[in-house]
Amino acid sequence: MKYFINTMGCKLNENDSEKIAGMLVEMGYEEASAPQDANIVVFNTCCIRENAEEKLFGKLGELKNIKAKNNMIICVGGCMSQEQHVVDKIKQSYNFVDVIFGTHNLHKLPEMIEQRIEENKKQIDVWDIDGIVVENLPIKRTSEKNALVTIMYGCNNFCSYCIVPYTRGRERSRKPEDILSEIKKLAADGYKEIMLLGQNVNSYNGGEGYNFANLLRDIDKIEGIDIVRFMSPHPKDFTDDVIDAIAESKSVCKVIHLPLQSGSSNVLKLMNRKYTKEHYLNLVDKIRAKVPDVYFTTDIIVGFPGETEEDFEETLDVVRKVDFEQVFMFIYSVRKGTAAEKMDGHIPEEIKSERFNRLKELADSMTTESIKKYVGTVQKVLVEGESKTNSDVLTGRTRSNRIVNFIGDRSLIGKEIDIEITSEHAWYLKGNVVID
Ligand code: 5AD
Ligand code: SF4
Repeated sequence: MKYFINTMGCKLNENDSEKIAGMLVEMGYEEASAPQDANIVVFNTCCIRENAEEKLFGKLGELKNIKAKNNMIICVGGCMSQEQHVVDKIKQSYNFVDVIFGTHNLHKLPEMIEQRIEENKKQIDVWDIDGIVVENLPIKRTSEKNALVTIMYGCNNFCSYCIVPYTRGRERSRKPEDILSEIKKLAADGYKEIMLLGQNVNSYNGGEGYNFANLLRDIDKIEGIDIVRFMSPHPKDFTDDVIDAIAESKSVCKVIHLPLQSGSSNVLKLMNRKYTKEHYLNLVDKIRAKVPDVYFTTDIIVGFPGETEEDFEETLDVVRKVDFEQVFMFIYSVRKGTAAEKMDGHIPEEIKSERFNRLKELADSMTTESIKKYVGTVQKVLVEGESKTNSDVLTGRTRSNRIVNFIGDRSLIGKEIDIEITSEHAWYLKGNVVID
């Protein structure tokens, strides 16, 4: 018997899918390479932006005709199933879906599947209340190199555009000892790189004053873990203590994802982000002063209701000033039930996409330009393999995701080594192995 999981959305969902896979393996299922070969298909959905719904319904439609062939059980979970209108639509138009579960009762999936088989009855169970933190679920990790570790669930911020607080509930942090023992086990299993996950990692609260900075310091002491990444922090909660912990740590990666969303203080206020343009720029300066070799990446939404041309120019101004390594850009998309849905001044689609294109042009040109600053530096490079165009050359990536080509022995593949960057070539860097 086989299973197939279709994961949409963010790393938190990916980590949830690894737990779903772990539970299905424990039930005796094996992974299928395609949905049509599976007896159980699970959709772990995302609803952060609009287009995801059509995608889910399209994929469900595709399975309708092959369902009978494999006696297939179709399950829908994740953020979308926390939305009543999606559950209603599935019940009405996709009646062949067998199990609907929510984000708070993921651990109940095996039970629901068993009941579906035994009673031959559709199972729908979505909890409104905030879930408890369930530890020790089995897990089948997707990557053998880097492991995802969720440290907190939910979000209390209610940014006015965002659906997450409605689908994931209020903030709940895992206990420090549970997180640390998971990471120690990962180190013992040979993992070198971990990514700490949460909707707002720097409001992690481990109890009795134990905060995100404490957690970073304790993780840094774990032997064998060389790279610690985290996402996403909120600029309003980025304390000096966290900056110090990053600066002091050997393992915390000096590439920080710091979501900006907008560069206009007016729009930030409407977004309920609780910081201003100046606060964001000061924070970047403060981090740069304490962590000299730091790089930033960001998320930006264009076309938020009420965004004027001047507001948009402020966003471009921040992008110019900060010099991001990478900008993840999103066109504002209305989410049912959020505060922004009811705001005045929704922006016409053509203006949104015109602004998106202007931002993209600027961000792309900045990225090309900022590659120059690598020349002369020594970078930690994870060696991926031989270059596609020349087998004498090895290729790898910096911690900030830039491609580096260099001459080296094939035995270096899979290792992270120091490379001195000697030149830049628009989209990649060249360098030499540092021999110590
Ligand atoms: N419309 C567009 N982008 C959004 N994001 C969150 N909600 C919306 C929305 N309604 C973006 C934010 C967030 C990223 C994960 O998705 O930039 O940081
Ligand atoms: Fe959404 Fe804001 Fe919470 Fe991030 S911090 S999940 S954008 S509400």
